[in-house]
Amino acid sequence: MDIHGCKGCFGGHGKKECPCVQKDDMAQIYPAVRDCDVIVLASPLYYWTMSGQLRTALDRLFALEEGDGNLLRGNGKSSALLMAAEGHGFEDAVLYYDHLMEHLRWENLGHVLAGGNMDVGDIKGKSEIQQAFDLGKSIQ
Ligand SMILES: Cc1cc2nc3c(=O)[nH]c(=O)nc-3n(C[C@H](O)[C@H](O)[C@H](O)COP(=O)(O)O)c2cc1C
Repeated sequence: MDIHGCKGCFGGHGKKECPCVQKDDMAQIYPAVRDCDVIVLASPLYYWTMSGQLRTALDRLFALEEGDGNLLRGNGKSSALLMAAEGHGFEDAVLYYDHLMEHLRWENLGHVLAGGNMDVGDIKGKSEIQQAFDLGKSIQ
């Protein structure tokens, strides 16, 4: 998707159809986030954290916190985190995710962190596939 970085202009307004002053593919994400109950964040581990692509989209969600009434925080939403990596250094990513959940007041449904995966197909047959399935199934 074509998603540009947040400019930090504080010009957004959550209740507008397109809450951000920038017009790009976030126009598809804002209504989806407004309407959903559960948000699954999925990312490879890039330099000990979530990918820049995902982080950029998360920064842009800030527009939903602007204006009269915060449309991002709380609102009965919950979230889960799915990650894959070559190694196992997920600590910083999980710390960031936990802070995000705390700030957004979304219920943290947990995470599945699949280390030891470099090449396409490495994850086949590993227990994390079942864990992700079980996590999905546990969401009502
Ligand atoms: C830019 C970049 C940074 C990465 N940084 C890490 C890292 O810090 N730790 C790690 O274990 N793997 C790192 N990796 C490896 C990826 O996490 C790994 O290939 C992952 O399984 C890719 O998931 P995907 O197949 O869903 O794209 C990095 C890969 C790239 C391309």
